Amino acid sequence: MKKKSWHISENEVTPVNIFNKRRDFLKLGIASVLTSSYIFESFAQETSKIQTSKVKGDIKKLLFKKDKNLKNLDLNTYKQITSYNNFYEFTTNKERVKKLSHTLNTNNWKIQIDGLVEKPFSIDIESLIKKFTLEERIYRFRCVEGWSMVVPWIGFSLSSLIKLAKPLSKAKYIRFETKFDDEMFPDQARGVFATMDYPYVEALRMDEAMNDLSILALGLYGSLMPNQNGAPIRLIVPWKYGFKSIKSISKISFVEKEPINSWQKANSKEYGFYANVNPNVDHPRWSQKKERVLGKFFKQKTQLFNSYEKEVAHLYKNMDLTKYI
Ligand code: MTE
Repeated sequence: MKKKSWHISENEVTPVNIFNKRRDFLKLGIASVLTSSYIFESFAQETSKIQTSKVKGDIKKLLFKKDKNLKNLDLNTYKQITSYNNFYEFTTNKERVKKLSHTLNTNNWKIQIDGLVEKPFSIDIESLIKKFTLEERIYRFRCVEGWSMVVPWIGFSLSSLIKLAKPLSKAKYIRFETKFDDEMFPDQARGVFATMDYPYVEALRMDEAMNDLSILALGLYGSLMPNQNGAPIRLIVPWKYGFKSIKSISKISFVEKEPINSWQKANSKEYGFYANVNPNVDHPRWSQKKERVLGKFFKQKTQLFNSYEKEVAHLYKNMDLTKYI
């Protein structure tokens, strides 16, 4: 295989524990030598040991293209991102998800791709990793509840998977489903007493899905995705509230009609299909004007489309955003 310009040798790999220090290097302007990185087995940290053993097979190192962080975003720490989670399949207690999520077993995980496509198929995570160029994407992430963070995700563009799936022209939406497995997910096992109707469902309009910002993420901070953040693969759509970013995806369907997503089903007065971050449209029970960044004391102003207006505003140009929530 021909080496890409951003390939580096293994001894230049930066383990997770010094990743934060590396940011300081970048600020000092020594960025040029640090433009790419590997995820690989011998990360010193306990976290990476767990992560490399999670996916069976040959995934010892993942190569990805580093994000240059041109917006100079201040990253949240690995600990913050992985210790405060929304993953209702385990619990509604954000601090407990990390502890409970060990039951999520990602071995032999497959994604079923079906609906309005040339030919339905299923694909495992390893094959996906081999097919696509992995990239780091440093994105803001804003939860509808009013907290936010900045995360260095690793993944590939959703558009490349869509091209692989070859949807028919009738396909107008793409629908995602989290795995249903009541041995892995304790809240699913609670049947009628469960917190939500499972499986968790999310969807995007096809043009939203094709936008360059939309990715399927397999990791963060140079390691495979921790269970609590949606291993082995999740959606990231950074201009939308966090609930659109569905975790632990096992099915992707191409459909003609707008699907009803889980939160809309749970409470359609409070949650809609679009869920674009918008400081001018309050949640019925709280203001969306400000947000608290994890680890920071003072709130900051929330930005329209979570600061990605330039990239996505055209998708909604004739729509009343106070109506299409
Ligand atoms: N996906 C599934 N399957 N189950 C969930 O409960 N919660 C959503 C989203 N994806 C959720 C999910 C919500 S409300 C948010 S804010 C984000 O995941 C949280 O992602 P994080 O835990 O990585 O911060």
